[in-house]
This record gives sequence, C-alpha cells and structure tokens, in this order.
Amino acid sequence: MYGNDFGEPLNAAETSDYTDVVQEYFDGLIGADKRIEPRDAMPEGYRKTLIRQIAQHAHSEIIGMQPEANWISRAPSLRRKAILMAKVQDEAGHGLYLYSAAETLGVDREELLDKLHNGQQKYSSIFNYPTLTWADAGAIGWLVDGAAIMNQVPLCRCSYGPYARAMIRVCKEESFHQRQGFEILWTLSNGTEAQKAMAQDAANRWWWPSLMMFGPPDTGEAAAPGGHTEQNMAWGIKRFSNDDLRQKFVDMTVPQAQKLGLTLPDPDLAWNEERGHWDFGPIDWDEFWRVLKGDGPCNEQRITHRRTAHEDGAWVREAANAYAAKAAAKQEVA
Ligand SMILES: [Fe+2]
Ligand SMILES: [Fe+2]
Repeated sequence: MYGNDFGEPLNAAETSDYTDVVQEYFDGLIGADKRIEPRDAMPEGYRKTLIRQIAQHAHSEIIGMQPEANWISRAPSLRRKAILMAKVQDEAGHGLYLYSAAETLGVDREELLDKLHNGQQKYSSIFNYPTLTWADAGAIGWLVDGAAIMNQVPLCRCSYGPYARAMIRVCKEESFHQRQGFEILWTLSNGTEAQKAMAQDAANRWWWPSLMMFGPPDTGEAAAPGGHTEQNMAWGIKRFSNDDLRQKFVDMTVPQAQKLGLTLPDPDLAWNEERGHWDFGPIDWDEFWRVLKGDGPCNEQRITHRRTAHEDGAWVREAANAYAAKAAAKQEVA
C-alpha cells in the first residue's frame, strides 16, 4: 500500500457481525497460514476492512499518477520522458489490479470511485504535495515509491489471495520506480552546483512527508490493545506496525542518501549503536493531520482533476458497456 496514513480505521467492535460457523472455518484457514480466496466464507469485518484498504490503495495508485504526469512533457530528455511515462502507466496498472481485487470482495468499482470523488474514501496524503522541479520526480521515485515498497512487500504475504498476488507484481514494478528515482537524483547530484541544489531541495521537501506515509505512531488509538493494528495482524493483513515499517525505511534510506551526497533535513538523525538503528527526530503530526483532513497544498487540485478526468471518460465507459451488451446479445443468439 502507498501508506498507512488514511485516518480513522474500522473499529474492531463494529466488525463482529458474523456467525460461529464462518468464524471457525475462517480461523482454521488463517491459523494454517493459508490464503482466503473469494469463494471462501469470511467474517464481514475482514471483508469490509479489506475492501477499504484495497480501495484506498487503488485510489492512491491513480491519484499518484498526477504529480509525476505533470513532468512528462517537461522531463529533460526523450529517454527521461519515456521512462517517466512508463512509470506513470505502471501506476494506472496498479490501480486496475487493485480495483479488480476489491471487486472480488463483492463491491463495485463505480461505487469505490464515487467514494473517492465525494471524499468518503481517502488516498495517501503524500500526493497532496506539489512537484515543483524535475528533481521532485526523482525524490518521489526514491522516497515515495521506496516507502511504498516497505509497505507492500509484507502485503505479498497478506491472507487475502487476490490482494497478495497483485502485490507480487506491483512490488517488482515499484522497485523499478525506486531505482529510476534514485538514478535521476544520482545524475543531478553528480551534476552542476545548480543541479545538486535542486536535488537537495527536493530531498528537503519530500523527506518528512514520506515518513508520514507510514501513518500515525504506534502510541495512537489504532495501535492500542484490541485496536485496528492488533486486529489486522490477527487477520494476516498487516505484518508490521507503522513505527516498525518507518524505522526499516529510515534504516534503508539513510545510507542511500549518503551515497547520493544529500543531507536529510533532520539534525537528530544519528546511528544508534545500541539499538542497531538510525535515530530520527520528531515528526510534525499536526501537519500530517492537517493534510489528511484536506488542508494540504494540492488536495483540492488533485480531486478536481480526478473528477474531471472521470467525467471526460464517461463516453468510454458508455461505449464499453454498449459493446459488451452487443457481444452478449450476439452470444445469446448463437
Ligand atoms: Fe504503484
Ligand atoms: Fe510506484
């Protein structure tokens, strides 16, 4: 998933409306570390949680196309344009796999898109930040796709089969995205003084929001005993807590920043020999909640653009439906 920063999780208490028989069957599969498939009975809470998570993941993929698509026509060479175009198309593909995976849980894609458009469902807040320079395309690949990989690799072992299988392919593509971002910054940071400064500026702006992608700290309500995190771990959906994933990301990324010759904008960043991890400074959670609630630099722009794209595409959906109806009628005659 792009992040864990979507806000209010389902309350475990809201999700207890299922029968003992279903529960026993389901617990057996989970206990044996087997996959739950669309044909399997499952507790309503599990189904709802997955629909919500997969939908928000899908929304993040397609909204995430916007900040980088902004740079396709301005990328500095034909090669860069082609690579960035492929990357943005990959994100559209990730959205498609994920909406399809959500549909196996008995929900309609149209309904999920409506919920995105009317604000009932969220996408990762990282995409509410603007891409101001070409170096931002690099920083997004390196940091945002890097954080996405951290979240998504454990999801390859998610208990829900269609989601886990989608993640295997998605992760392969995300690792290409991460490398292309790193390579953009590598080129810039080995370039002129102005290019180096551009790379540093992008790292300065994207570092903290990318740490926020892992969601609220483990001291919050969701992470309390009996809360969302514990429930999702018991269901085999979540494998690591938000803070554990964030720490893994910091540990992976700091040496990469050193290789790039970039300084991460955190004076408290220091190797802690005793813990065997990098210590880092406090995250501005006020900013996190503000952006999540809609007050980020680009929230309005992203959702308006999405709604317009959806309306402009109405004729394609109508044509596809008409074609499908015609093909079905033909088959009936035959
Ligand atoms: Fe993606
Ligand atoms: Fe990606």
